[in-house]
This record gives sequence, structure tokens and C-alpha cells, in this order.
Amino acid sequence: MQAQIMLLPGDGIGPEIMAVAEAALQAIAAAGGHDFRCRTAPIGGAAIDATGAALPEETLTACREADAVLLGAVGGPRWHNAAVRPEQGLLDLRLGLGLYANLRPITVHPALVDASPVRPERLSGVDLLIVRELTGGLYFGPRREGMDFAEDVCRYHRSEVERVVRRAAELASRRRGRITLIDKANVLATSRLWRQVTRELIEREWPQLELEILLVDAAAMHLITRPAEFDVIVTENLFGDILTDEAATLSGSLGMLPSASLGDDGPGLFEPAHGSAPEQAGGDTANPFAMLLSTAMMLRWSLGLESEAERLEQSVSACIDAGATTADLGGPLGTRAAGEAVLAQLQQAAA
Ligand code: NAD
Ligand code: IPM
Ligand code: MN
Repeated sequence: MQAQIMLLPGDGIGPEIMAVAEAALQAIAAAGGHDFRCRTAPIGGAAIDATGAALPEETLTACREADAVLLGAVGGPRWHNAAVRPEQGLLDLRLGLGLYANLRPITVHPALVDASPVRPERLSGVDLLIVRELTGGLYFGPRREGMDFAEDVCRYHRSEVERVVRRAAELASRRRGRITLIDKANVLATSRLWRQVTRELIEREWPQLELEILLVDAAAMHLITRPAEFDVIVTENLFGDILTDEAATLSGSLGMLPSASLGDDGPGLFEPAHGSAPEQAGGDTANPFAMLLSTAMMLRWSLGLESEAERLEQSVSACIDAGATTADLGGPLGTRAAGEAVLAQLQQAAA
């Protein structure tokens, strides 16, 4: 197949892990006779330096015209006092492409059980999918910022809740049939709306699903004490941001958590859940696996290349089995060498 793929390396470790993903994509294209046309554009701090904008108009237009978008990471201390923040570029891209559902899957590779701070017996059978609402809530409500007063408003409309819960329910019905809503309905009006809408929707359209509802503070604990009991979790934007970094520790490292951001149509955006790790930038130490697993999600969700996606995931898994990992997972390799190890596995699979 032919596909137009936009590459947005961004800041910090972004360019290093993107180089690994691009090499994997080209290997997959060569093995399968695909024609992946990759173009690179600036976003985040790199775009601010080059153009003054965190999401230049040309970058957004090129993303809209592509079949899929791959992103490294944005942000860093250099831009903390800038008039425009790099992170705003990512938020504008998510909103601009209408990507309201962010899928963050968490599994535990058996060889990485000891890399996690959670006890091994609690990690057995962990296979959960967090569906984070991505274009609403506190991130996108009205904001005011002064010297002595600041305000962030959290708003949700029924339709925003319905569409993301529907997406989560579809996914749960193809998995183990459990869906957990995480909210703060004992305090927040938006959470009470989420609870009402979710109960109605599941009862009406997905009665075969088992619905569990947890308050976010307790859920933060349950994620650590009984992670294997979760199947699909659905939650609002900020809770999803926080809980996904927490859940990533189950898999051994934040450098293992990929994500797919999807809307109703148009290109999806695929990016690791981690940030730009500025202290590691240029050091060839960052784990490229979350970036590669995000690339696999792109092959699956935007390009419909399921067997290629699986081959890439299996190649990462084979490297973990062989101890061919970066330092965060206890391995001896740098970013580039870990990427090359995955390429070698890919080539072996294609031969
Ligand atoms: P971070 O995710 O960059 O780093 C948190 C910790 O995890 C650090 O110790 C880091 O070294 C480590 N880490 C992250 N990715 C890793 C990888 N691939 N391999 C090995 N170790 C890894 O979060 P932070 O330090 O809080 O934020 C740094 C910057 O990144 C901030 O500007 C933040 O806004 C931004 N950020 C961007 C994204 C994104 O672009 N999607 C996501 C999160 C944070
Ligand atoms: C993430 C990041 C972003 C978010 C930041 C960089 C805006 O932390 O993708 O998890 O909060 O959504
Ligand atoms: Mn985050």
C-alpha cells in the first residue's frame, strides 16, 4: 500500500526515538512492498525556535492531508518562560485533528516483571487499556492567569462523554467485557455528568458489558494493588494523563507506554505517552520501544496493516526476551543500538 506519514520529532529525546521509528518503518515497507512517504515537520519548542509558533499552520495542514501522524515528544526547560509553550502545539494538534479518544495499552512482558516496582504476583495477567478523553476538560476550558489569581475551568458536554465512552465500550466488547469509569463524582459536577451518561449508554447499548465505577483517588490505589482485574478504563482528560503515567510503571518503564489518538475520521496521531526527557536529550540513552510500539499502533489503527503491526510488536518483545534493552529496563544498550536490535528481529521475521 501507499501511505503519507507525517513525522513530528519535536524536542528533547524526540528526534532520537523518531529516527529509530523511521528506520523501522522503512524496513517494514521494504519487506511488505509498501510505499510509505514520510515527511518531517516542526512542532513544539523546535517549531517555536524556527517560526515563533508551537504548531505552525503548515504543520497542521500537512498533518490533515496525511494518512497518519507520528510524534516524538515536545517541551523542555528552555521554553518554560516563553510566551508560547511547546505543549500548546500538541494540544492544538489534538484539537485540530479532532482526536478525542486516546488509547494507552498496558501489558507486562514476563521478562520485565522485576523492572516494575510492583510485586510480581500482582503483575501476572495485567492487560489493561486506558481510554483517556483527549480534547475536553481542564485542558481546553477557559483559562485566566494573573499574578494573584488564576483559573482553569473544567467543562464537558454530554456528547463529548458519549463519543469517548462509546469508543471504550466498543473496545471492551472485543476484549474481556469489563469497563471501569474513573471519576470524582463525590465532588465534581462534570464527573456526575460522566457517571450519568456512562450508566445510561452502557445500559442502553452495551448491556452485556460489566460496568465498574471508581473514584479517582481510590482508583490510583487499585491500579497498583489489583492491576490485573482491569480491562478497559475510561476517564476524563486530566485523570487519564495522571493515571497512565502511574500505570506505565507496571510495565517496567514509562519508556514502554505507547498511545494512539483517534477521532471519527481523518488521520490518527501516534506518540509515546512519555515526554521529551530533556535530561537525556542527545545522550543516546532513551528507550525507543514506546515510540516503536506507537508506530505499531499506527500500522494497525490508521493503515490497517495488522500483521505488520504484530511483527513490529513481536520484534520489540523478542529484544526484551534477549535483554536487548536500554538502561531504564536494566539493559546495556543505547537508543540507536536498541533500535538496531529491533531492526535485526524485523529482518529475521521477514526472511
Ligand atoms: P518525561 O516523561 O519526559 O520524563 C519523566 C521521567 O521518565 C524522566 O526521568 C525521564 O528521563 C524518564 N523517561 C521518559 N521517557 C523515557 C524513555 N523513552 N526512556 C527512558 N526514560 C524515559 O516527563 P517530564 O520530565 O515531567 O517532562 C519533560 C517535558 O516533556 C516537559 O516539558 C513536559 O511538558 C513534556 N511532556 C511531553 C509529552 C509529549 O510530548 N507527549 C508528554 C509528557 C511530558
Ligand atoms: C501526555 C502529556 C501531555 C498531556 C502534555 C505534554 C500536554 O503529558 O501526552 O500525556 O498532558 O496530555
Ligand atoms: Mn502525560
